[in-house]
Amino acid sequence: MERLDTLVTGGKVVSSQGIQELEIGIKKGRVYSLTAPGLQLEAARIIEAKGRFVLPGCVDAHVHTRDPGLTHKEDFATLARAAAAGGITTIMCQPNTVPPINNVQMFMQVLEDWPKKSVVDFAIQAMAEPGNMGEIKGLLDAGAISMEFIGAESTGPMLMEILRVVHENGGLAGLSGGDGGYSQFIKRRSQEAGRKDMSAWISAWPGVHEAVGVARVLLLTEGTPYRFHFHMITTRKAVELIRQAKNNGRNTFTAETSPNYLLLTEEDHLRLGPFSTVLPRFKTQDDVDAVWEGIFDGTIDLIDTDHAPHAREEKEAGHQDIWKAPTGIPEIELSLRLMLNEVNRNRLSLPRLVELMVEAPAREYGIYPQKGVLEIGSDADMVIVEMEREKAVENGELITAPKYSPFHGVSLKGLPVMTLLRGQVIMEDGKVTASPPRGNIVRPRR
Ligand code: DOR
Repeated sequence: MERLDTLVTGGKVVSSQGIQELEIGIKKGRVYSLTAPGLQLEAARIIEAKGRFVLPGCVDAHVHTRDPGLTHKEDFATLARAAAAGGITTIMCQPNTVPPINNVQMFMQVLEDWPKKSVVDFAIQAMAEPGNMGEIKGLLDAGAISMEFIGAESTGPMLMEILRVVHENGGLAGLSGGDGGYSQFIKRRSQEAGRKDMSAWISAWPGVHEAVGVARVLLLTEGTPYRFHFHMITTRKAVELIRQAKNNGRNTFTAETSPNYLLLTEEDHLRLGPFSTVLPRFKTQDDVDAVWEGIFDGTIDLIDTDHAPHAREEKEAGHQDIWKAPTGIPEIELSLRLMLNEVNRNRLSLPRLVELMVEAPAREYGIYPQKGVLEIGSDADMVIVEMEREKAVENGELITAPKYSPFHGVSLKGLPVMTLLRGQVIMEDGKVTASPPRGNIVRPRR
């Protein structure tokens, strides 16, 4: 056999199907060989992974970049470095930049800019809204990985029309479950009554609104072939509606949640204050239990982050008036660690984690098997983890620009110690390598 560029040896390789001791040969950025241990293959570089697990690089299908337009919150370089530190090698970026990615010209602008900054690969999620129906075909043809409905307008009367156009052009639609209209009313009433506290903020987003939104979409799309994905499912009622639809044979949609909704409740909003505000907000322990049940029985298809950083000063304004704190939490750097910790707590297996955080997002968004798996010919994206390593989350050590997390101070067991993108090491022992960014766009296969 020809000399390999890199051989990853001694590790236990994890896929959704199980765990196997395999040596991974890499050539020209792709997986070239998968062999039983001990063949002593020749390689320019050997990466010793003895006692460690090798996972395909995680795929985060829900990430908010602030670049362009809001780089005081976080720029693309920092976002991508935080991803690499967290074992994530592909990020799918939401379009709510300034200006938003809702036309082909903006798509081309970020496509020109992001590779200069990104140490990980990225996909572009474009915006679908009543005003840009004429752009949808062009955006999908250019390689947008999904069309995203952001804002009450799009999920209102135009929902079906936008879904139809996305479908006719071979696309996938990303939807938030929530029904935001009533919340805006509660918020206004609360503000008029002079309330500025966290309890009032919590009350403005009743959990049931999510189920109302999910039910509406499921009812309206019944009998259609439209492919769509529910972002951030966080409540028992929504999980139940989705389960029921899937049990009835609906198979054109998928659903996600994030570690936040598996690990935090309303109590944490009260404890953590404005730095914890995010939409959807954290719910009750009963909701958390139901989301876990959804993970166990496959009602929830994938886990990603909704990484949404805001500047510390912006969040701090919420101490005086909670409505002033912009909603969103940085998360990308910790999602794998949080879920590895749950594996160590025996809540789920490593293969199921790989299914939820790597394989399912890659499949659903049409980039499998280039991404999402370590098989011959796939991109050699991987993350090597030490399951026994325990480390506390420290805000000050985070790479994400605003350096805060609801998990500050929490000790997590299971640590990514090396990340490779297309065969190149981009993170080692928590340090993201300084080499020039090599991130590329990933386009879906349609
Ligand atoms: O709280 C949120 N903030 N939820 C979202 O889905 C968007 C995000 C943002 O962009 O800040």
